[in-house]
Amino acid sequence: MKKISIAIDGPASSGKSTVAKILAEKMNYIYCDTGAMYRAVTYLAISSKTNLEDGPALCALLSKHSISFKQQSDGQLVFVDEEDVTEAIRQQDVTNSVSIVAAHGEVREKLVELQQTIGKKGGIVMDGRDIGTTVLPDAEVKIFLVASVEERAERRYKENISKGIETDFETLKKEIERRDRIDSTREVSPLVQAEDAVRIDTTGMSISEVVEAIEAVISEKLGLD
Ligand code: DC
Repeated sequence: MKKISIAIDGPASSGKSTVAKILAEKMNYIYCDTGAMYRAVTYLAISSKTNLEDGPALCALLSKHSISFKQQSDGQLVFVDEEDVTEAIRQQDVTNSVSIVAAHGEVREKLVELQQTIGKKGGIVMDGRDIGTTVLPDAEVKIFLVASVEERAERRYKENISKGIETDFETLKKEIERRDRIDSTREVSPLVQAEDAVRIDTTGMSISEVVEAIEAVISEKLGLD
């Protein structure tokens, strides 16, 4: 069967990465977490004390380093040059600053180019904010996942607890709202649903229910029903 491209977009903590990973594994497709790339640039900027407001400086930094993924049997690792940054890019300092970095047009241009190279041959599930609108506008399947802020904060809260990280629920909620606001109102490629994307509200749905809903969309789009 022809290998297609699947774009999954949506706001922070809407479950994109979790379901994108499962789908990619089930379909034997490549999985590309574009948020991890913006996080990797943010990590680089913080480590090198680069001003997060300075787009050209961030771009210069990006030109000097490479961001790559390595597939493992138990998940995907993210590398900046030879350094494994998988854990580091999920820390609070990176999470709180990444929206600022992702708002720079010149940073986006470079990362979109890289993402398009990764997705060029199809057989890919890519998740982010602008995949259906900008990175893979011709993707055969486009999904836009949403969920209430409460539910997203709850998911993040439980995830943190399972990792032994103590966080305040209200603070998490405020951070998610803040990132939504920055991601949705930035000038370049803001978070918007592509016209031809299928919107799925995952509030109250389990992970497997969301995966099933997306599989139903894939079957319908490919005329497999
Ligand atoms: O999905 P995430 O939380 O790991 O994304 C981190 C940040 O990167 C988020 O603030 C939005 C931004 N991002 C983006 O602007 N475009 C993408 N394609 C992916 C993520």
